[in-house]
Amino acid sequence: MKAIKISSYGDPSVLVLAENLPQPEPGPEQVLVKLHVAGLNFVDTYQRRGLYPVPLPFTPGLEGAGVLEKVGKKVRGFQPGDRVAYNGQLGSYGEYAAVDAWRLIPLPKSLSFEEGAAFPLQGMTAHYLLHEYRQLKRGDTVLIHAGAGGMGGLLVQWAKHLQAKVIATVSTTEKARIAKKLGADHVILYTKDDFAAEVKRLTKDHGADLIIDGVGKSTFAKNLEAAAVHGHIVIFGAASGPADPIAPNALMPKCLSVSGGTLFVHAGTHEEMLPRAKAVLAGLKAGWLKLQITRVLPLAQAAEAHRLLESRETTGKVLLKVVD
Ligand SMILES: NC(=O)c1ccc[n+]([C@@H]2O[C@H](COP(=O)([O-])OP(=O)(O)OC[C@H]3O[C@@H](n4cnc5c(N)ncnc54)[C@H](OP(=O)(O)O)[C@@H]3O)[C@@H](O)[C@H]2O)c1
Repeated sequence: MKAIKISSYGDPSVLVLAENLPQPEPGPEQVLVKLHVAGLNFVDTYQRRGLYPVPLPFTPGLEGAGVLEKVGKKVRGFQPGDRVAYNGQLGSYGEYAAVDAWRLIPLPKSLSFEEGAAFPLQGMTAHYLLHEYRQLKRGDTVLIHAGAGGMGGLLVQWAKHLQAKVIATVSTTEKARIAKKLGADHVILYTKDDFAAEVKRLTKDHGADLIIDGVGKSTFAKNLEAAAVHGHIVIFGAASGPADPIAPNALMPKCLSVSGGTLFVHAGTHEEMLPRAKAVLAGLKAGWLKLQITRVLPLAQAAEAHRLLESRETTGKVLLKVVD
């Protein structure tokens, strides 16, 4: 089979298409998925660079959609031929992946394989970020950094659905247009304007009740200024690099709290994962949540896909097509 292999950490050129690889053999509690589409996520770039180390060599990709080819002998409820989506297990940048059966989400007929590869990781992350840290009340202000990105676009729509006032930050006027279209009440060009001062101005000095930050280094410190009294900041990524440390006492004046978040914990078991997947699917079915699939590249162009994502040239979700 064909798959992308990483044999050393580095820039996108380490993503190499390898051919004639053996198909993985699923264990008794696993299935063999014939992948149609793999989802690209920023975490793939951290793993490629070695920021989140993965033993070498490895096939990247934590999300995909396809058809079951084989089912392990202890697996119940799935059969060869079933259409599925999944996330959380390495190896989706390839034609076949052995996947733990508990990670499978049956793919509704109404969704294409592209949609199936686009919703699990980012959709369930948006769900936990908006439900696990603060019980949002109507009119609460939520600040979402990188609001036109894969995560940002889903967060903007979901926070609006929860009747929050949404402020998004973006780097370009084109991205500002996208975040607005997705429902943001206000958009700040954080590469041009001081986002903390803007949040204060837009909220009449109240600040943001919940700040969701996957950007990290270039935004985290200013979040303390942008937050409301009793505000909560969730750090869940490092698109601009890992955030610098802050002094704990800096949280005192506004009684702030800060959390970290990762889907690997918030969807770490079937029981935790499935309700989040169902909530995403329900949002898609109802129509208030829309996937923003903006680029679909062939698997062989995985390096180009990483380059685009890291150079801030993408919006919405980027996919790699495995099967033509
Ligand atoms: N912990 C979790 O559970 C979890 C799950 C999913 C994703 N994440 C995190 O969520 C974040 C977004 O992920 P995504 O896949 O949806 O990516 P994305 O938002 O589509 O792309 C990253 C965006 O970050 C912004 N950015 C700011 N500074 C940057 C820099 N120096 N280099 C590159 N990008 C920069 C860019 O938007 P602007 O041009 O508008 O600034 C860029 O488009 C990442 O940090 C990712 O690790 C975490």
